[in-house]
Amino acid sequence: MKSEILKKLREIDGYISGQELCETFGVSRTAVWKAMNRLKEEGYEIVAVPNKGYQLIEQKDDLLNENEIKSRLSTNWIGTQTKYYDSIDSTNSEIKRLADQELPHGTLVVTDQQNAGKGRRGRSWDSPDGVNIYMSLLLRPEFEPNRASMLTLVMALSVSKGIDEVCNCRTMIKWPNDIVLNKKKICGILTEMGLESDYIKYVVIGVGINANTEAFKEEIESTATSIRKETGILVQRAELINKIMEHFEANYATFLETEDLSVLLEEYNERLINKGSEVKVLDPKEEYQGISNGVNQLGELEVIKHDGEKVQVYAGEVSVRGIYGYV
Ligand code: BTN
Repeated sequence: MKSEILKKLREIDGYISGQELCETFGVSRTAVWKAMNRLKEEGYEIVAVPNKGYQLIEQKDDLLNENEIKSRLSTNWIGTQTKYYDSIDSTNSEIKRLADQELPHGTLVVTDQQNAGKGRRGRSWDSPDGVNIYMSLLLRPEFEPNRASMLTLVMALSVSKGIDEVCNCRTMIKWPNDIVLNKKKICGILTEMGLESDYIKYVVIGVGINANTEAFKEEIESTATSIRKETGILVQRAELINKIMEHFEANYATFLETEDLSVLLEEYNERLINKGSEVKVLDPKEEYQGISNGVNQLGELEVIKHDGEKVQVYAGEVSVRGIYGYV
């Protein structure tokens, strides 16, 4: 009930009476009073004025907890089940452990810290506590397994748009799944899939966003940054999570219409930092350079090699760099 009260307080411009809250949630005045006290303990500034009721003072801090996330979510199916942990090994691993249970399509797992955060290609993902977003979304799609890798791009587009709206900046996408701000990485996405014979049992899309980190390890300082470092704002993480998931719901519905990226393509390519520029394709089999032409409706990056040959690069184990550095 705490998250519902919090949501109601946010919706109301001004005061809401204790009586109205009792009637809305079918609980006693004491229950409302207790919930208010617990919310205050969690850091919310709530004023109670006799004959007027309760009012939530506009929040400036970045609070991340179960109530904060649930009260911010205004999605239709994402987060019907939301699990929050102060700390966990990896939200992707947690979803994979839970996927055998009856958890529904749209289950969202969020944590404040990971102690075994996973990156692409077997790398680890630095996950300090209290500053960033680490979340994973469970999907149970009915399409063919070969469609699943495109979901990474659907999420990348959703993250990029969500950040721009909440943080008032212009992020770009580095194919297939990094989000960059001022040419440095602020977000990575790791999509994993569970198969049963030849159908998809689950897909987990893990998103790591450097939101409020102020300092980075020397090894990654030249390529990684955070929204806070670049814009100076303190990101309210729960608000950003909601905005990204709102975009994902809309983009996923569009994706399902064709089961490919044909409708989302234009928007994705507009945000693609590699489009029209010289790239180095790091394919484990061979490394080559060419001009990137943007992605096609299957999410493959089209690259025109220097000898004129046009190749479609499938994400998988391949990575792309700018010729002078990360982008
Ligand atoms: C990359 O290498 O760029 C992908 C990084 C993905 C990190 C996120 S954080 C939340 C989720 N849980 C993980 O262990 N990894 C993903």
